[in-house]
Amino acid sequence: MAKTKTAYVCNDCGAEFPRWQGQCTECGAWNTISEFKITAPSNSRSARNAGYAGAVQAQVQTLDKIDLQDVPRFSSGFKEFDRVLGGGIVPGSAILIGGSPGAGKSTLLLQTMCLLANQMNALYITGEESLQQVAMRAKRLGLPTDRLRMLAETSVETICSLAQQEKPGIMVIDSIQVMHVADVQSAPGSVSQVRETAAYLTRFAKQHHVAIFMVGHVTKDGTLAGPKVLEHCIDCSIMLEGSTDSRFRTLRGTKNRFGAVNELGVFGMTGHGLKEVSNPSAIFLNRAEEMSSGSVVMVIWEGTRPLLVEIQALVDYSQLANPRRVAVGLEQNRLAMLLAVLHRHGGLQMGDQDVFVNVVGGVKVAETSADLALLLALVSSFKNQALEQDLVVFGEVGLSGEIRPVPSGQERLKEAVKHGFKRAIVPIANAPKEGIEGMKIIGVKTLAEALEAI
Ligand code: TYD
Ligand code: MG
Repeated sequence: MAKTKTAYVCNDCGAEFPRWQGQCTECGAWNTISEFKITAPSNSRSARNAGYAGAVQAQVQTLDKIDLQDVPRFSSGFKEFDRVLGGGIVPGSAILIGGSPGAGKSTLLLQTMCLLANQMNALYITGEESLQQVAMRAKRLGLPTDRLRMLAETSVETICSLAQQEKPGIMVIDSIQVMHVADVQSAPGSVSQVRETAAYLTRFAKQHHVAIFMVGHVTKDGTLAGPKVLEHCIDCSIMLEGSTDSRFRTLRGTKNRFGAVNELGVFGMTGHGLKEVSNPSAIFLNRAEEMSSGSVVMVIWEGTRPLLVEIQALVDYSQLANPRRVAVGLEQNRLAMLLAVLHRHGGLQMGDQDVFVNVVGGVKVAETSADLALLLALVSSFKNQALEQDLVVFGEVGLSGEIRPVPSGQERLKEAVKHGFKRAIVPIANAPKEGIEGMKIIGVKTLAEALEAI
């Protein structure tokens, strides 16, 4: 007889408690604890014994003796997707694809699977849409449909036993929130179901060498349901981001056992599904002919490549007692800090002004290299003077008004030259001594020098 044990799990950090409480004592979050029913295997002793018996047959070996030929990665068919995965799909890996509804998760995976089905046995499990809906979409997108195996099912046990017969090399579960494991009593989509489902599928992936993509929806605050609960059992977690009213979608890894995180893949949503964008700088830089005040182009570093994006600022006299400070795509605190630096070391007082800044194209910048560009955008808007069309800027700004170097200066400058920029204001340590052909580089040490340069 299977025994059920009730535990209480924090959705944020995954800590377990014997009884419900309002605040998680591990991470301090409020109202994140929910009930979790665990069913212990009925004949646990014999199962454990079997486990030990199996373990005796396994052998210990040194790291260098492990055959690496076993795990060649295979391509998803999209270079951008492969890049985010760390160079391709690893057989037997469990990959979680998160995103808000309508981001294009199902579309991306359907496109990938239809193409991959030509080289391997591929199985697509849909729990959300009917088989007809998926078939209609594939037909509309003009995808090859004769090889992809389909299944509409939500029971994880049934899926896995069918998959055992089918022996797919790759499998998609769309989505993890509608799947359920019989042993767990709570409703599909609850923390306990999602956690058990992910663990079950991950075990299956490892045992049978199937790469499994699981689709996960994000909650209102932009996190995957029980993110920390899931993160320890899967191999990669990837987010597909982008608002439904923008054409562009970005794919970003948040955890990856097989490669670096923070790689960015860029896609465009077209009438024929997702198309990869191999030159993202070109799309984020789609600018008007005439430069207006408050707009500056900067070079940021995304994963392993430079990206040119435009940053805009609007500084205007405020009617409010507390002028507004709004930053979209940048950190609010960073903006406050830079305004203080500008006041102290640049002599520009914006205390009675509303300040809005925005990174064009919905790009999110977490890098300090955007500091100098942001400052110059603020100054340009404040003085209502447009900067030159062919100017790029990057550099970190310190609290004492000094301009600090950033990593990969040369590559950033080269990317800017490639896109036709002819002038650059950069930290002096980032300015190459021999110069770069076709570009006038102004190296600056302090904020005052940078203001002088524009
Ligand atoms: P979908 O892939 O179903 O999103 P998810 O599975 O992440 O919830 O849908 C993506 C959205 O993209 C949908 O709202 C319609 C749109 N879309 C296009 O613009 N072009 C297309 O070719 C397709 C298939 C979808
Ligand atoms: Mg979907």
